[in-house]
Amino acid sequence: SPLRVLVLGASLRSGSTNSRLAALVGRMMGEAGADVDLAAMRDFDMPLYDGDLEAANGVPDGALALRDRLERSDAFVLSSPEYNASVPGVVKNAIDWVSRVRPQPFKTKHALLLSASPSLVGGNRGLWALRVPLEHLGTRVYPDMFSLAAAHKGFTDDGQLADSGLHQRLGETVSAFLSLVEADARYVCLQRR
Ligand code: FNR
Repeated sequence: SPLRVLVLGASLRSGSTNSRLAALVGRMMGEAGADVDLAAMRDFDMPLYDGDLEAANGVPDGALALRDRLERSDAFVLSSPEYNASVPGVVKNAIDWVSRVRPQPFKTKHALLLSASPSLVGGNRGLWALRVPLEHLGTRVYPDMFSLAAAHKGFTDDGQLADSGLHQRLGETVSAFLSLVEADARYVCLQRR
């Protein structure tokens, strides 16, 4: 059966460059035979984490919906903006809520991290910060990360990367990531027999 990959654009705004990057990677993965579930952060509306809310009502529906989409996937891709050289609060808040569910949904999932930024150096610092909570939760974060600099002029009208060399490089990262996830899924299958 094909690999199921949740591809999440982690910015709330409608014109998000991270959503565009997520859509492109989703198409690349679909072409490589994966079963892609394309999502956006605004699909998962949730309040700020508050222990009182959790004690009264449990984990909110938006976080449970994200948990369900994670649960149905073998791996996920997160394309996240960098805010002040770190993880946007919206993304950290979602990770915090989802981490409260048992069994803990991030554990042993493979993840590929991407960032799109208008800056000339890209959003790589935010991705290093994003590794910390995910790795803490047991996610197998792919060593290579992809950051698109000058993202506001980084795409062609049909959603490819304007720089063809960079487009090819992204494709290589995507296929290397899928190979790793696939090899691991096969290994787990063999062990279960
Ligand atoms: C930013 N932005 C930004 N960009 C960056 O490369 N490094 C940074 O440290 C920051 N810091 C930052 C802080 C705050 C509070 C905001 C609102 C923005 C700019 C950011 O990359 C830009 O808004 C992107 O376009 C966000 O991604 P989307 O929404 O296009 O996906």
